[in-house]
Amino acid sequence: KTRIILDVDTGIDDALAVLYALLSPEIHVEGLTTGFGNIDVGQATENTLRLIKLANCGYEVPVAAGAAGPLKRDYAGPVPHIHGHNGIGDAELAPTEQRPLQESAAEFIVRKANELPGELVVITVGRMTNLALALQMDPSITGKIRNVVVMGGTVFAPGNVTPVSEANLWGDPEAAQQVFRSEVPLTIVGLDVTLQTRLSRGHLDQLRRLAPIDKQPIVDFLHTALERYFTFYLEQNQYLGECPMHDPLAVLVAVNPSLVNTRVMHADIDCGHGLTAGMIITDRRVNPMVGREITFCLEVDADRALRQMLSVFL
Ligand code: BDR
Ligand code: CA
Repeated sequence: KTRIILDVDTGIDDALAVLYALLSPEIHVEGLTTGFGNIDVGQATENTLRLIKLANCGYEVPVAAGAAGPLKRDYAGPVPHIHGHNGIGDAELAPTEQRPLQESAAEFIVRKANELPGELVVITVGRMTNLALALQMDPSITGKIRNVVVMGGTVFAPGNVTPVSEANLWGDPEAAQQVFRSEVPLTIVGLDVTLQTRLSRGHLDQLRRLAPIDKQPIVDFLHTALERYFTFYLEQNQYLGECPMHDPLAVLVAVNPSLVNTRVMHADIDCGHGLTAGMIITDRRVNPMVGREITFCLEVDADRALRQMLSVFL
């Protein structure tokens, strides 16, 4: 099993990533860490705790709450028009008695990286703040973490906050830059591939028909939460009855790298305050001089990824 920490700003697609990770037989979730982004960190943490109860995965999964805002900027605030007022499309989840750990998300990442040298895969699907803080706390973990897989950024696809910037990197460019400039192995699952991997209403109907009775509460949740997401993409005139599986794809790729074609490029992050805030700058010159080697996912077998994702609910 792949041992992962999944760092989330729970979020509708974050919720799917969490449920997938918890239910996948190929994954052991060492812990979930939370931060600000789609919603404030308090609500992201509560959503995450409740999802663990919903998933009922059969083992204990600790949650460590993390950053409430970016390293050097102000938090731009939640996005209810995308993720609903509670971050999960206004779906109601049953409360749980589980509470977050005493240690912070960054402390948790540092501890686990040291406990599991060479084994731990850290997947970030929100702002990269918690991971940047962990690297500040203990730079030696760059040599201990097996891989960092990031949902964030874009190389060739248009951005989703500015023409060139994606939300997770835009939301804390300095954090992203620190991770990009560190020596930790880094795989980027950005909009180039996540926009190609879209769940449809048809997929959800299939789940309704095929999921066993014990999974139906999860299917109910997905129906309610994803309705908000479908509506957003419809309001944008972007997709009709479909929504991109940004965050789940990062988890899928972390465990099944054959789902994507990758290209290693030199890259860095722009920390400006205008349109390029959080933009990935790739240096594709013959003799690159900017940034360091980073693995970018550029093509995806979307059908296989979606089938793999849905299989854990069946
Ligand atoms: C990313 O931004 C958030 O809204 C999603 O949860 C995803 O992590 C996509 O740009
Ligand atoms: Ca997210």
